[in-house]
Amino acid sequence: MKAVHVLNGPNLNLLGTREPETYGHATLAEIEARLCARCNPRGIALHFRQSNHEGDLVTWVQEAGRAGEPVILNAGAFSHTSIALYDAIKAASAQVIEVHLSNIHAREDFRRRSMISPVARGVILGFGAFSYDLALEAFLARAEAAGKP
Ligand code: DQA
Repeated sequence: MKAVHVLNGPNLNLLGTREPETYGHATLAEIEARLCARCNPRGIALHFRQSNHEGDLVTWVQEAGRAGEPVILNAGAFSHTSIALYDAIKAASAQVIEVHLSNIHAREDFRRRSMISPVARGVILGFGAFSYDLALEAFLARAEAAGKP
């Protein structure tokens, strides 16, 4: 595994100050730094991005798919609405782990449905910022098991 893409959707740039009782106090920069510390010594590049625009996420999923590189995706509210992201993941045959900081099943009804889950390789949710770490560990373990650490 040469690179991992971590893609973040709308409002996740506000992590740290956004509804900390739901999303915790870690900022996106802190999450990135932690993941970087895991990836760097292994020579794995980390492409960590955030956008409030659906089309950016679609473009980045396509890029990762073309490169054959795995994606950790927190699409924020687009998780619940985006047919475009569903299509992008399918079209790009991208290996995606969907993550959420919060347990979307324990919140409002409209958050229970994810458009992304059916095309994701796996889903990790409810562990706060550590959802990202757990997703990275899953990709690292899978690469190690395949003999490509
Ligand atoms: C979220 C959950 C979504 O429902 C919400 O719209 C977000 C964050 C999470 O990480 O828990 O923006 O994806």
